[in-house]
Amino acid sequence: MKYFIEIWGCQMNEHDAEILAGMLEQLGYQKTEQEIDADLIILYTCCVREKAEHKVLARLGELKKYKHLNPNLVLAVGGCMAQQQEMGDYLRSRAPYVDLVFGTHNIHRLPQLLQEVKESDSILIEVWDKEQEIVEDLPAKRMDSVKAYVTITYGCNNFCSYCIVPYVRGRERSRHPKDILHEIEDLVEQGFKEIMLLGQNVNSYGKDLTQKIDFADLLEQIDSIEGLNRIRYMTSHPRDFSDKLINVIANSTKVCEHFHLPIQAGSSRILKQMRRGYTKEKYLELVEKIKTAVPNCTLTTDIIVGFPGETEEDFLETIDVIKKVRYDQAFTFLYSPRKGTPAASMPNQVPNDQKKQRFQHLLEVQNKISWEINQKYLNKTEEVLFEGPSKTNPNKLSGRTRGNKIVIAEADESVIGTIQPVKITDAQTWSLFGKLEQM
Ligand code: 5AD
Ligand code: SF4
Repeated sequence: MKYFIEIWGCQMNEHDAEILAGMLEQLGYQKTEQEIDADLIILYTCCVREKAEHKVLARLGELKKYKHLNPNLVLAVGGCMAQQQEMGDYLRSRAPYVDLVFGTHNIHRLPQLLQEVKESDSILIEVWDKEQEIVEDLPAKRMDSVKAYVTITYGCNNFCSYCIVPYVRGRERSRHPKDILHEIEDLVEQGFKEIMLLGQNVNSYGKDLTQKIDFADLLEQIDSIEGLNRIRYMTSHPRDFSDKLINVIANSTKVCEHFHLPIQAGSSRILKQMRRGYTKEKYLELVEKIKTAVPNCTLTTDIIVGFPGETEEDFLETIDVIKKVRYDQAFTFLYSPRKGTPAASMPNQVPNDQKKQRFQHLLEVQNKISWEINQKYLNKTEEVLFEGPSKTNPNKLSGRTRGNKIVIAEADESVIGTIQPVKITDAQTWSLFGKLEQM
C-alpha cells in the first residue's frame, strides 16, 4: 500500500503531515511521489486565505481521474480547510468522490478512519468541533534529516480580527516541558542539528500549565541540551515578546539571532481594528530593544495589505515601518476575508486592484532593502548549516546562516548536516552565494 500526501500552508501543517506519514508507515504503507501509484491520497489543507481553498477544490477535480484508474484509491481531505464548519457538507456536494474528510483535532484517528472508510460506501466525515487533550507519542516520519519541527503549543487564543486560525486550531494548549525536552533529546540522538519550535504564538507558552514556566524558561532548558546546534521558533507575537525573553535569547548560544515579528500593519488605527494589542510605536520600541540586545540579528515579518478600511495614509505607515525597521525579508499577503471572522463583515472592504497596487509598492520597497542588506554580507564569512542539494542550483548545496539566510555553495555532500564557514562571494535579494573556507 502506498500513500501520497500533499501539504498546503504553514509549518504546523507540514509537521501534522509528518505525523500522518508516521502513522501510515506504522501500518505498513510506503510513501510514493506519484499520485498514480497511490492507494491513499491525502490533501492536507490550509484556509488562512481563500486562494488556498480554491486550489484544493481545483486539485480534487484533477485527482478524480485516479479514482477511475484505481477503484480502491482512498481520497482524503484533512487539515484546516476540512476543519471549518460545514466544509464536510460542502465537500459532500461539490466533490462526492472524496472518501474521507477529517479535521485538525483528530489526526491521531487516521488509522481507525481508514478502517471505517473501507466499510462505508459514502463519504466519511469526522471533524471534531472541539480540541482535545494533547495526544503524545504519535510517530513522526521527518521530512528532513538535519532540522526537525517540535510543537510546543497548539491553537491560538488571540482572535486577531482577520484570522481564522483560532476557529480551526482551537484554544491554546502547551505541551509539558518534559515531553518537549524528551522529544528534542531523542532527535539530537538521531542526529538532528536544528530544531524549530512550533506554536501559533510561542510567546504564550506555559500560560495554561499548572507548572510555572514561560517560553523564556523553556528556551533556557533547551539551550542546555548537548549536541544540539541551533534553536529556532515560529511564531512570535510582538505583544508578548518580553524583556526576559530578549535577554535569554541574547545570552543563549543555540537560539539563532533571527527574529520573525509579524507586524501585519503599520498604522496603529488598523492594528487596533486587527486586535493586535500593540501600536506602531510599541512595535518599533520592541525592535529597537532587540537590535540593541542582539546587534547582529536578522528581522523578518508578515504583513497584510488591504485590511478593511485601510486608507492610503494607513498603508504609508506600513511602508514607514518597513523603512525604519529594515527587515531582511517580509512575507506580504493581500487581505482575504474569511467567513466567520469579524473583519470579513467590516465596512469599507478595499477593492482588489487597490490591494494589488499596494502589494506591488510594498514589494518594491522591501526588495530593495533586502538586496541592500544582503550586500553587506559580501566577503564576510558565515557559519552555514548545510541542509541538502539546492532547489534552484541542483549541482550545489544549500544551507542557512544563523540569521536564516539561504546560502548556496559548491561543496561535497559529506558536509550535509554540518556547520561550515562559508565566504560570501555573491549576494542577491533572496539568497547568498559562497565558497567553503578551507578548514
Ligand atoms: N488574509 C490575509 N493574510 C492573512 N494572514 C492571516 N489571516 C489572513 C487573512 N485573512 C497572514 C498573517 C499571518 C500569516 C500566517 O498569514 O500575516 O501572520
Ligand atoms: Fe491568527 Fe493572530 Fe493567532 Fe496569529 S496570533 S494565529 S494571526 S489569531
